[in-house]
Amino acid sequence: MRKSSIVGTGSYIPKRVLTNADLEKMVDTSDEWITTRTGIKERRIVDKDEAASDLAYKASIKAMEAANIKPEELDMIIVATITPDMIFPATACVLQEKLGVRKIAAFDLEVACSGFLYGISIASQFIATGMYDTILIVAAEVLSKIVDWQDRNTCVLFADGAGAVVLKPFEDGNQIISSCLGADGEGADLVGVPAGGSRLPASLETVRSRQHYMKMNGNGLFKEAVKAMVQAADISLQKGGLTYKDIDFFIPHQANIRIIKAVAKRMGLSMDKVCINLDRYGNMSAASVAVALDEAVREKRIKRGDKILLTCFGGGLSWASLVIEW
Ligand code: ACO
Repeated sequence: MRKSSIVGTGSYIPKRVLTNADLEKMVDTSDEWITTRTGIKERRIVDKDEAASDLAYKASIKAMEAANIKPEELDMIIVATITPDMIFPATACVLQEKLGVRKIAAFDLEVACSGFLYGISIASQFIATGMYDTILIVAAEVLSKIVDWQDRNTCVLFADGAGAVVLKPFEDGNQIISSCLGADGEGADLVGVPAGGSRLPASLETVRSRQHYMKMNGNGLFKEAVKAMVQAADISLQKGGLTYKDIDFFIPHQANIRIIKAVAKRMGLSMDKVCINLDRYGNMSAASVAVALDEAVREKRIKRGDKILLTCFGGGLSWASLVIEW
């Protein structure tokens, strides 16, 4: 079985900054509440005419440049998103056309915040079997368009961005050591968009009652997040024959600084090993970890030989953890 290597990373963050002070003018909130309860100071928001595939395209180009590969070399495209351009066709197909690549396989993954790590894990199976050699995995989220800007419980948390990687069979350089994927549909009602699917199709009533916006039970998610992230990380490390003592750099999902600190404490990891970007970017769902990985690589925070742990948790419920030797 062939191992996989991340041969290039890229990301794209919209230019428009929305600060906590801006939010104070929109809903009944304060910079003090948002900072102490979440750790978020500001986030990025797309322009009106920007959609997930636009962000995905920009992140993909950067990842392919870093990997020194041309779009025509790609064998498959996976896009992780809960904010696709439309219900269907897949945003991955829209991206395939924008990139001008061959008629290769392209599909979306709808696994909320865990989608990027699910995508890498799925892609690595195609590489392991020898079916494909060069796979683009992109996480692209435009959460500002499904957030209810009248709901202070959610609108202060979520934001927009995209990150991408190119995966190839391991030759030298980094390699993916192990992964753990999981889900628990019992918690499906803790976060989601109730209307617009086949259960509750769009109607005047669903629009009037704001059912097309994200609804979230923050407290319920908080408890599950810490437990699930530690369990997923435990399993991925065990599979790789490693312990937390071996980990040089930890990239957790960026939902809340209090969740991240609780998780790091349980793992026995000091905060200087933990990657944080939610203060600048908020929660970008699947894109959070993808953007964090790209920035850490470009800023050379990750060095050759480092053992990297990436762990996510989100809607579904879903979770995923990945160990990479860089
Ligand atoms: N500004 C001011 N007050 C607020 C705000 C706000 N923006 N939002 C909520 N409050 C109030 C509440 O109304 C409540 O007031 P009350 O006591 O008078 O009722 C009070 O603050 C406390 O609310 P809690 O919900 O208990 O606050 P908590 O400390 O739990 O923080 C938060 C809420 C930030 C949402 C936290 O629970 C959290 O981060 N949860 C995890 C979210 C998560 O993991 N998401 C990942 C999945 S998302 C996905 O998959 C797309």
